[in-house]
Amino acid sequence: MITRRDFLARTAGLTAVAAAARPLLAASAGPLVTIYKNASCMCCSHWVEHLKLNGFSTEAHDIDDVDPIKDRYGVPKPLRSCHTGVVDGYVLEGHVPADDLTRLLKERPKVTGLAVPGMPPSAPGMYQPGDPKKPYEVLAFQKSGATTKYSAH
Ligand code: CU
Ligand code: CU
Repeated sequence: MITRRDFLARTAGLTAVAAAARPLLAASAGPLVTIYKNASCMCCSHWVEHLKLNGFSTEAHDIDDVDPIKDRYGVPKPLRSCHTGVVDGYVLEGHVPADDLTRLLKERPKVTGLAVPGMPPSAPGMYQPGDPKKPYEVLAFQKSGATTKYSAH
C-alpha cells in the first residue's frame, strides 16, 4: 500500500525528471533519421538537406561500403539505391521524398520501409532546378522483397 506521503514524494521525483528532460525535447526538431551514406556521394548529402529543410532531425554516417547496412536492415537487392536511412523502426532506401516519410510515420503501415530504387532524376536530392520532371514511384517493401506502390510523383 502506497501512503499519500510516498505518493507525493514519487510524483515530485517524476516531475523533476520531466522538467530536466524538457529542454532536450525542445531542442530536437522532428523525428530523427539516421543515414548511412558514402562521403563522396553528393546526391546523398542533398537528400539529407531535403530532410532537414522539411523539419526532420538527421544523423548522417559516412561509410565506405553501404551494402552491409542494406543487408542488416533487409533492403531487397532489386530496390537498392545509394544511401539507406532508418527512422522510428522503418527503413528508407534511396531518395524518398519527405512528404512520403511524414505520411509513413503518421499511418504506420506494417512494412519494412519505403524505397525509391535506383536514382530517378526527379527525386529529392537528384532534381536540379530547370531539369525536366520525370515521373517516378515510391514503393513500400517487405524484407521478403514484396513491394506495393506507395506513391507516384
Ligand atoms: Cu543518390
Ligand atoms: Cu544517396
